Amino acid sequence: MENKTENRILIYSLIFLTFFMGILVYASTHQDGNLPDCIPYAAKLSKTGVDTIDDQYYQVFYEAKMWSFEPAQVIIPQGSTVEFFLHSKDVVHGFDIYEKNVNLMAVPGTLTKYKIKFDKPGVYKITCHEYCGAGHQNMQGEIIVYEK
Ligand code: CUA
Repeated sequence: MENKTENRILIYSLIFLTFFMGILVYASTHQDGNLPDCIPYAAKLSKTGVDTIDDQYYQVFYEAKMWSFEPAQVIIPQGSTVEFFLHSKDVVHGFDIYEKNVNLMAVPGTLTKYKIKFDKPGVYKITCHEYCGAGHQNMQGEIIVYEK
């Protein structure tokens, strides 16, 4: 009798485990490949500013440092796809665009790469969400998406 109960528990556990592993695999493969990439430091990608690839595609190179983002403000048209390259000049910083569910880290010695499309016009606030010293709470930036 006890053996049967144990077997049943074991079978249910395996079913649940398989189910949860399946969810993990599904989540990691069905995000349009849109997960942040951590790439090795490359000097040519560790600049600051905006490169216009075409009128719908931009590359933005961010430097996070105590206690600001550079560029502090980026202005792009609605419908733009933006590829972010983020690096840190000093310590570990966060990079959060709440309205876009973007949550990145700026780690010294590496580059964080992420691609996202801005469909809706508006002002998207960027905040540092990793405590980085006395001025942490003032570390902000913004992306202005204007209507086309
Ligand atoms: Cu940078 Cu907190």
